[in-house]
Amino acid sequence: MPLGRYITSEESGNNMERIDRIMKHRLFLDCKQKIDRKEAQRMYCRHGLEHSLDVARIAYILNLEESGGLRQDLIYAMALLHDLGRSREYETGASHHAAGVELAEQILPECGFTAEETQRIAYAIGVHKNGEETGDYCASLLFRADKLSRSCFDCKVSETCYWTEACRNHDISY
Ligand SMILES: [Fe+2]
Ligand SMILES: [Fe+2]
Repeated sequence: MPLGRYITSEESGNNMERIDRIMKHRLFLDCKQKIDRKEAQRMYCRHGLEHSLDVARIAYILNLEESGGLRQDLIYAMALLHDLGRSREYETGASHHAAGVELAEQILPECGFTAEETQRIAYAIGVHKNGEETGDYCASLLFRADKLSRSCFDCKVSETCYWTEACRNHDISY
């Protein structure tokens, strides 16, 4: 292949049509807008689309490096929805992990994900606080990419951030 030519999604076997459906889903957009509004003045890390896409891309790289074999759209769906429950957490105080499971179970089937895929993604979202300990590959991938996505090395509020020194990313790895 000549240098500078991008591989099309057709060539790579990745079909991102279902991701497009999530991006246009009414409930997804509604929750995303609520998060953006609530976090507009937030000085710590935010949970909007930029964060979700960072997580998606890092998770996809890890999946390729580790030959995890997960479909690209499954990884992106998991990442796009993983913090969506924050919209409810900000309103009611409910855990965003549990709220995220409910939202994923509602949104994913309407975007063409099978019951099995929905269950897999929802599970990973529900345990993303400590997904490494579950032994589930999706959960571990989401947990690691979520942590790796944060630019602690460029943080302006590290003095008061609750992340421990051991958790923080001191340099760029992805
Ligand atoms: Fe989270
Ligand atoms: Fe996150």
